[in-house]
Amino acid sequence: MEIRLALIGFGGVNRAFAEILRDRGPDLAAKGHHFKICAVCDQRFGEVVVQGGVDLCRLTETTSDPGAFASLVGGGTSCDVFSILARSGADVAVEATYSNRVDGEPALSHCRAALELGMHVVTTNKGPVGFAGHELTAIAAKHNRSFRFEGTVMSGTPVIRLANQCLAGNPITGFRGVLNGTANYVLGRIEDGLSMSASIAEAQALGYAEANPDADLKGWDVALKVTILANMVMGGSLVPENVACAGIDELTEDKIRNAIHEGLRWKLVGEANRSPDGTIIASVSPQLLPTDDPLYGVSGAANAVTFHTELLSAVTVSGPGAGKVETAYAILSDLLSLK
Ligand SMILES: NC(=O)c1ccc[n+]([C@@H]2O[C@H](COP(=O)([O-])OP(=O)(O)OC[C@H]3O[C@@H](n4cnc5c(N)ncnc54)[C@H](OP(=O)(O)O)[C@@H]3O)[C@@H](O)[C@H]2O)c1
Repeated sequence: MEIRLALIGFGGVNRAFAEILRDRGPDLAAKGHHFKICAVCDQRFGEVVVQGGVDLCRLTETTSDPGAFASLVGGGTSCDVFSILARSGADVAVEATYSNRVDGEPALSHCRAALELGMHVVTTNKGPVGFAGHELTAIAAKHNRSFRFEGTVMSGTPVIRLANQCLAGNPITGFRGVLNGTANYVLGRIEDGLSMSASIAEAQALGYAEANPDADLKGWDVALKVTILANMVMGGSLVPENVACAGIDELTEDKIRNAIHEGLRWKLVGEANRSPDGTIIASVSPQLLPTDDPLYGVSGAANAVTFHTELLSAVTVSGPGAGKVETAYAILSDLLSLK
């Protein structure tokens, strides 16, 4: 059966996803998975709608110039996400734009509109899930559709489905993880002897850190991921402000290097635990870890999370936490999981 896709946003992640479909489409089709991109909309590049399917070679070759989609068959320079969704005839909206830290917009409205139109929604965008994950899941259920968001935590490394499907029937009582590769990379480079500012500059040069690295260094990015896991895996109803948050900017270079001499390492840990009264307490903080902690050896830009479960005790998964191809893979895995 053919699944028709509308891509909302065409930055690093959705472009990498289109490249995966271009390169691996025949293999996927041979296994019975037929995906067709019939609409793409991006505020920078414009829009393209082709009911029979956008030419993936031409699409992925477009430049990063403003209005670049105008050169494509079915393309133009405007970008009205809601109109595109309505006109696309797509089965699934793949949302990979931007969301603010206050209320998850504009991505939240994109997801809500697509679900109300009766589409499945796959997103890599943390905002809609962190601010309204339960609401969006309920809208999807009302329309007999799915809301999927594997890429929001640890990119394509399976975390959400691991917890909700592979660990089904095994209640999760808490989790703790290294969930921000940039902060972890910076800590590692300070351990190596670099200054905080040089480590941040290096992380930016490598494409790990944004021009403004506050969300990574102050723990805000992890707080959103902790909210997502606490709500969508443990059944909580937190908003990001409920997560007590401290970042690695509160550490000094001396503190980080002295720990190494004592056989310890500072890690930015995001965690949540169910208390005896059923409430979930969540936090982000730099923590000093001993060598036998499963998170001690998580190095560079890698991520890891340990789930504490009733029947298996601790289950840890580690892998890439970001990257456009890694996150694009999460989109593919979400699409393959749709019934
Ligand atoms: N890259 C990763 O490793 C990674 C990992 C996990 C999750 N994510 C999340 O996945 C999403 C996409 O990431 P990305 O790396 O692809 O980001 P990106 O490269 O910044 O791409 C986002 C694209 O969406 C466009 N856009 C922004 N607001 C829009 C709107 N209202 N309507 C239409 N288009 C809009 C942007 O245009 P402008 O250039 O004009 O802003 C840009 O072209 C983000 O939410 C990100 O946090 C990314």
